[in-house]
Amino acid sequence: MSPGSLAVSPSKVAPSALDAAVLRRDFPILDQMVNGHSLAYLDNAATTQKPLPVLAALESYYRHDNANVHRGIHELSRRATVAYEEARIRIARFIGAPHASELIFTRGTTEGINLMAWSWGLEFLKEGDEIILTAMEHHSNVVPWQLVARRTGAKLRWLEIDSEGRLAIDVLPKLLSKRTKLVTFTHVSNVLGTVNPVADIVRTVKQGSDAIVLIDGAQAVPHLPVDVAALGCDAYAFSGHKMCGPTGIGALWARKSLLESMPPFHGGGEMIRVVEREGSTWADLPHKFEAGTPDISGAIGLGAAVDYLTQVGMPAIAHHEKELLAYALGRLAEVKGFRPLGPSDLSQRSGVISFTLGDAHPHDISTILDSEGVAVRAGHHCAQLIMRCYGLPATTRASFYFYNTTQDVDRLVAGLHVVRGIFG
Ligand code: ALA
Repeated sequence: MSPGSLAVSPSKVAPSALDAAVLRRDFPILDQMVNGHSLAYLDNAATTQKPLPVLAALESYYRHDNANVHRGIHELSRRATVAYEEARIRIARFIGAPHASELIFTRGTTEGINLMAWSWGLEFLKEGDEIILTAMEHHSNVVPWQLVARRTGAKLRWLEIDSEGRLAIDVLPKLLSKRTKLVTFTHVSNVLGTVNPVADIVRTVKQGSDAIVLIDGAQAVPHLPVDVAALGCDAYAFSGHKMCGPTGIGALWARKSLLESMPPFHGGGEMIRVVEREGSTWADLPHKFEAGTPDISGAIGLGAAVDYLTQVGMPAIAHHEKELLAYALGRLAEVKGFRPLGPSDLSQRSGVISFTLGDAHPHDISTILDSEGVAVRAGHHCAQLIMRCYGLPATTRASFYFYNTTQDVDRLVAGLHVVRGIFG
C-alpha cells in the first residue's frame, strides 16, 4: 500500500482541542475568590459546575413556560410538555439510546439503580440466584442489591480488583453460571478513575450466562463519548449534576423489552392508564416509570447541558481531561510522599486522582487545600469496599472537568507543598 492510500480510522484522528480558558467564561462560579485565593475547583466527580446556557434554560422555563406536563390542556402545559419530551429525545440521543421511550427520568444514578433493584430485582430474583458485582462499586451500586438479596434470597458474588485498581476480568468466566441473573459494575470508578472495558465485559457475560448487565455510568457519561447500544449492556444509569446539569435529575436507560417486563417502581400520577378498585393498569413507556409530577425543569436543564457538551464535543472533553491527568500525575510526582491510586496506564483511566500523602490525614489535606482556595474531596467517597481493598480509611481526591486547566493543577501541587510544610 502506498503511503498516500493509508486509511486513517476516525478514532485515530486527534479530537479537535478545546480551549478551557475560553470555556471557563461560561461558568461564572469559577471566577471567585475563596479564602483569599482564586478558586481552583477540583471536586468534579462529586458535582460539576453549570454553564450559562443551563442557567438560562432553567430561568427561561420558570419565567415563561412553567406548568405541569402531559395534563393541562392549555398553552403553558403544552410548552412545558414539549420542552420536557424534547429534552428526553436529546438526552437519549446523547447516550446512543435506540429509542427515547427507553430513557426514564430519575433523580440520579442512585435512583436509577434502585429502580432496577426494586422493580426488576424483586420481580425476577429468587432464592439461589446470583448477582455479580465488583469491589470497585460506589455504595449506590452495592446497598440496593444487598437489600434486594435479603428480600429474595439471591446471593451476591464479587469480582475483585488488582493492586492497580483494575477489575480481575479474567476471573469473571469462572463466576458466571446458570444462576447468574445480573452482572452490574461501574463504567468509570469514582475513586480509582479506572475506565472499565464495558463492551468486553458484557460480551463475556453474555457468552457465559443469561444474565442482564446494568452499568453505573455516573462518572462516564460526563467525561467520555458513551453509546449504550454499542456497549451491549441492558441498562445504564447516570446523573445530570455530574455533567453540567442540575441536581436532582438523571436517567436510567434500559432495553424496551426489559422495561416492559418490569413492574412499576413507584405508583401514582402519570404512570397509570386506568385505576379501578380491584387494581390498575400502567401507562406506556417511559411514563410507566415516572410517577408523580416529574422534575420538569431538571430535565430541561439536563437537555441544555447535553446540548452544551455536544457543542464542546465529548471526544475533545475526553482528550483534554486525559492531557490534564498526564500533566497532573507528572507534577504531583514531585511532591514527596504523594501516592496515587488507580491504573498506571493512562489509557485505562479518567481524570480522577485519589491519593495519600505520607501520614497526613485526607481531611487535614483538604482543609489546608481549601485554605489555599483549592477544592478537593476527602473521605471514602461512598466506596468503602475500595478503601478496604487498600487498607485505607480515606483518601484525598482531585477530579477534573473540561474547564480545568494546568493552572488548577499547579495550584493543587503548590497546596500540597504547603501541606508538606505543615506536616513535615
Ligand atoms: N458519588 C459522588 C462522589 O464520588 C458524590 O463524590
